[in-house]
Amino acid sequence: MNVPEHIKSIKPYIPGKPVEELERELGITGSVKLASNENPLGPSPQALKALRPGLKDLNRYPDGSCFYLKNALSGKLRVSPDELLVGNGSNELIEIAARTFLNPGEEAIMAHPSFVVYSMVVQAVNGKGIVVPLKEWRHDLDAMASGITARTKIIFIANPNNPTGAINTKAEMDAFMKKVPEGVLVVVDEAYYEYVVSPDYADSMKYFRDGRDILILRTFSKIYGLAGLRIGYGIAKPSILTGMNRVRQPFNVNSPAQKAAVAALNDEKHFSRSVTTNEEGKKYLYRELGRIGFRYVPTEANFIYIPLENGEASRLYNALLKEGVIIRPMGRAIRVTIGLPEENKRLVEALKKAVRS
Ligand SMILES: Cc1ncc(COP(=O)(O)O)c(C=O)c1O
Repeated sequence: MNVPEHIKSIKPYIPGKPVEELERELGITGSVKLASNENPLGPSPQALKALRPGLKDLNRYPDGSCFYLKNALSGKLRVSPDELLVGNGSNELIEIAARTFLNPGEEAIMAHPSFVVYSMVVQAVNGKGIVVPLKEWRHDLDAMASGITARTKIIFIANPNNPTGAINTKAEMDAFMKKVPEGVLVVVDEAYYEYVVSPDYADSMKYFRDGRDILILRTFSKIYGLAGLRIGYGIAKPSILTGMNRVRQPFNVNSPAQKAAVAALNDEKHFSRSVTTNEEGKKYLYRELGRIGFRYVPTEANFIYIPLENGEASRLYNALLKEGVIIRPMGRAIRVTIGLPEENKRLVEALKKAVRS
């Protein structure tokens, strides 16, 4: 069986090993995982509570329309249910957007480094990824707008950006949106939206309300702590979502995820604890990283990007692993998730040890 060339050229996503397996290999216990920007507090307790009564109905297919979740989101966001689309993680919505709007040979503009899934889905549909380097750790929106051609169909913007945690401001996004013609879908991926504290953060809902060709993506994987259930949502005008709805699987979102998401939306205590834990952890890590002598990118998300000299990232990654601290090496940088106070402390101690050696 021949795998088509455009599929062969996709760089596969390399998932981390399960923590249990790593511990077995390294002969350690009690390691901390600060590699995947998960919520260190765990899932929303309200979501956990909501899961149990529905388990007896697992013989049934889920509600393919996500009726109750769309209703709950519709009230919270002041949008109509037909302006919402729920996905098996926001990852799935990124993929559906590419499958719906990108024909073979057409172009999608994205930044580098940014979320790896954008380039994977574009290649999978035999589209052409136009890659624009970040400027000062965030999307170079002027350069991205200059890259628009008659073949451009999608522009991906992660705001905050993963892996750098930096945001594009309101002024930058306003100027950018003025340059984007109708018929080009701007996908604003706001997976870390709830963690943002900067008053300069762009309000993407404004462009949606203005009727622009925009798809805003959010997720229950981060602040709500439900990454394992796979559920995220998109906000866009119905003309965009009608197309995407035709492409998606009829039962793309499982029923426990739908129930948990509805409950998590109302779990204000878990939400605010998550924000506070992140803010406190951020302050602590800024201070300690600075003391050790690391340069870091100020973050608006739940992780910190630390640019390094060539070769340092894998050395640090391996040194930290031996101390039972799992982080993400990324070429000439490492990315660390902000954890619980004791996890952050473990990270700092392990970094100090690695720098001394
Ligand atoms: C920028 C960005 N978008 C989307 C996702 C995927 O989120 P989900 O778990 O909802 O698929 C992530 C996950 O790490 C991310 O960093």
